Amino acid sequence: MYEKSIEYLNKAVADEMSAVHQYMYFHFHCEDQGYEMLSRLFMTTAVEEMRHVEHCAERILFLRGEVEMVASGSVQKIHDVKDMLELARKMEQESARDYNMWANECSANADSGSKKVFEALVDDEERHFSQYDLEMEKLEKFGDRYLALQSIEGSRNPPVGASE
Ligand SMILES: [Fe+2]
Ligand SMILES: [Fe+2]
Repeated sequence: MYEKSIEYLNKAVADEMSAVHQYMYFHFHCEDQGYEMLSRLFMTTAVEEMRHVEHCAERILFLRGEVEMVASGSVQKIHDVKDMLELARKMEQESARDYNMWANECSANADSGSKKVFEALVDDEERHFSQYDLEMEKLEKFGDRYLALQSIEGSRNPPVGASE
């Protein structure tokens, strides 16, 4: 009776895995270009998305389903910071929209446990959206100065592990 919930949860696992891959890709490239603050934001968000995979997987197992560990899409090889933020905002918006819908579907199928999992994810994805949106606003407002500041900050605070 929980097949639909398991299907939605597996779709969420696939989207979260794609987000982990995409944000880690952005993390490496921001670091490579010296944009330390953004590099860190992509890394911490990727870690949170990995936790989302875990929450969905735990729920799937509780419902006696199988976790399909397949990413929903391949990484987009974007190197421009504005394009990165654009895609990241879009991904968060789409996730929040899907999880809202699936929370309602699970509720209609009398599965309030999965509904709660999706609702918690919505809170996090909306927060991620706001974080990316704020960076986009700053980039649009300050342009190259915003990027230059990141490089300066990066020189002051070398990335964790840089001295290892
Ligand atoms: Fe997520
Ligand atoms: Fe997210």
